Amino acid sequence: MAPVKGTFLPDGKLWMGPGTLEVPTALFALNRKRLVEKLQGVKKDAIVLLQGGSELPFYDTDVTYVFRQESYFIWCFGTTEAGCYGAIDVSTGDSYLFVPRFPAEYAVWMGPLVSLTAFKNKYDVTHVYYVDQLDEILQKINRGSLLTLKGPNTDSGLVAKEATFAEISKYTVDNEVLFPIIADLRVYKTPFEIEVMKYVVEISSAAHMHIMRTAKADMYEYQCESEFLNYCYRKGGCRHASYTCICGSGTNGAILHYGHAGAPNNYPVKDGTLCLFDMGANYFGYAADITVTFPVSGKFTPDQKLIYEAVLASNLAVFKAGKPGVSWSDMHVLANRVLLEELKKGGILKGSVDEMLDADIAAIFQPHGLGHLLGLDVHDVGGYLKGHPERSSRPGLKSLRTARLLEENMCFTIEPGCYFIDPLLDQALANPKQSKFLVPEVLQRFRGFGGVRIEDDVLVTKDGIVNLTKVPRTVQEIEDWISGKNDILEKLNIKV
Ligand code: GLY
Ligand code: MN
Ligand code: MN
Repeated sequence: MAPVKGTFLPDGKLWMGPGTLEVPTALFALNRKRLVEKLQGVKKDAIVLLQGGSELPFYDTDVTYVFRQESYFIWCFGTTEAGCYGAIDVSTGDSYLFVPRFPAEYAVWMGPLVSLTAFKNKYDVTHVYYVDQLDEILQKINRGSLLTLKGPNTDSGLVAKEATFAEISKYTVDNEVLFPIIADLRVYKTPFEIEVMKYVVEISSAAHMHIMRTAKADMYEYQCESEFLNYCYRKGGCRHASYTCICGSGTNGAILHYGHAGAPNNYPVKDGTLCLFDMGANYFGYAADITVTFPVSGKFTPDQKLIYEAVLASNLAVFKAGKPGVSWSDMHVLANRVLLEELKKGGILKGSVDEMLDADIAAIFQPHGLGHLLGLDVHDVGGYLKGHPERSSRPGLKSLRTARLLEENMCFTIEPGCYFIDPLLDQALANPKQSKFLVPEVLQRFRGFGGVRIEDDVLVTKDGIVNLTKVPRTVQEIEDWISGKNDILEKLNIKV
């Protein structure tokens, strides 16, 4: 198909050129169709109105962040440009994209102006107009109310940006119906979306494998971060990462949100330590979120192996038990139970594992949740919608981003971890209800150890859970891969 003038995107698909995945605009058309089908039973005469993301300047300057489209807008329209609106007529299913009208001089600075026809072909919507025609067109098609999006993001506590425009007070606006329906639809991935998820997870997996081999003692953590970003962009066309890269080595592996501006992956990786690298690429909005933990030397020490294999046992137990109908909270507890059993076998804990669970011992070692929904947002929406289990207040469980039952076509992360975090260990040792389960002299050996996390991106199928992540996971696989053996490539059926 002919490329749209002024862009490198061909009609009917989003892609970044040869070797990268072609994302068909039919993906977004199907999302709209699913939305319309749901809404027809609820609000037949309505028009869905969404406002896309805007360019975000660096404070008071005229420099902007690299634009990233708002996720609900991508889900409906796939549009990569800023400053758009989109409407969907619930009764007919017709879709309307409104794009900014740029002055002629735009062409001097930003390249050729794209015609409305070219936009229509590119995004495969029914109609395209300019944003300044929004009121005129809505006046023509409106028969009832406008459905705008307003609802809480239960991870951030922030609220989705509700569409607004100068003349909106002329319309009846309903901002309650749309949110729970569209957020819930986003939870279930279509075959089109699953293809994109597989792609972004595979390129992220390959980038992690590349770094497992290239990371060396005395490199700086940020150099590993830059290798990841470069790999995913250069080989996979992934312009964005899905979140700030966490490249914690040694003790830094126990800092759960390491990599932030105050700790920007700026330590040298010390020989003999573990690297805990949590990084995921983003492709046209779809997110990967993978953590690998490996010894920079290429060989696990006995203590590193103990903790790594404890976390791996926990991860594998969830793979074995997870299937539709199973509660995610139960999976969290299962992962905790296995971790505690393994730590007990390793001599770090003592006593009854059931009593340890009652005493919230697991949350000392894994304060975060087992994992979360994954999709257009790395912590994807739909976690605590009405009608689904509510958030627990127990340590550990309260950090779960959803307590839903698993259902076919959901994407999740499974990311158990074990960390030695001084303030949590100190608190537990000072609390008689918890300290009785700890073996202080053994625990002491692990002060400064850092942590292990094994994070896979998975799809729930009819019968169970399929791992989309393709990286070496056992101690043997990791050691073999780092030492230069390539057997794992055939086992995982991958090219890197
Ligand atoms: N990287 C964020 C997370 O694992 O949830
Ligand atoms: Mn992660
Ligand atoms: Mn995650």
